[in-house]
Amino acid sequence: MADPLREAEAEPSPGRKAGGLKKLRLALWGVVALVIGIGLVAMLAPGRTPPASDQASYADLIGGPFALTAPDGSRVTEQTLKGTPFAIFFGFTRCPDVCPTTLSRMASLRKQLGPDGDKFRIVFVSVDPGYDSPQDIGRYVELFGTPILGLTGTDAEVNAAVKAYRAFYEKVPTNGGADYTIDHTASVYLMDPSGRLQSIIAYDETGPSALAKLKRLVG
Ligand code: NI
Repeated sequence: MADPLREAEAEPSPGRKAGGLKKLRLALWGVVALVIGIGLVAMLAPGRTPPASDQASYADLIGGPFALTAPDGSRVTEQTLKGTPFAIFFGFTRCPDVCPTTLSRMASLRKQLGPDGDKFRIVFVSVDPGYDSPQDIGRYVELFGTPILGLTGTDAEVNAAVKAYRAFYEKVPTNGGADYTIDHTASVYLMDPSGRLQSIIAYDETGPSALAKLKRLVG
């Protein structure tokens, strides 16, 4: 996870006194503790929703500027997506389980929403741009039988998007280093029309709970 404290220190306010900085530090560590606390609650009690006030703080840490490339070569940024809610997920096309499971599930949930299923976008960001070209990603997302916007970019662009969403990925060598797989965040981020986090669908979340969250997203 990015360290909000470091980010705050990178741009010090000239007029801020030491006491103010200390308070800011305490406040930021409070946010860090809150995020970790919410993460633990989410892991231990899938489907449980944190109080609205906690969600408000957490939501402000997720999402933000990014610039990636679509299968047709066009550029997509957070501004492009504004105005329509979206469900965004990070993975890679060679993923054996989490990605195909999650994208199939999103397609199924969309179908369950009926006409409301068209009221949000599904966005898949490949964190493996060295292997997945934008065109490869376009062919991959077509396998799921529902419109999915597949994106990737340069390593730097992908890393910036991953960082904006406080997501995670890591290449893990396999076959004695001859190949690799990628560990990555398995949650789906549900973003409102302004690009702000509304909720998260966890990988092990129940179907009814995930559907309820999507209903709220398009509601
Ligand atoms: Ni995956």
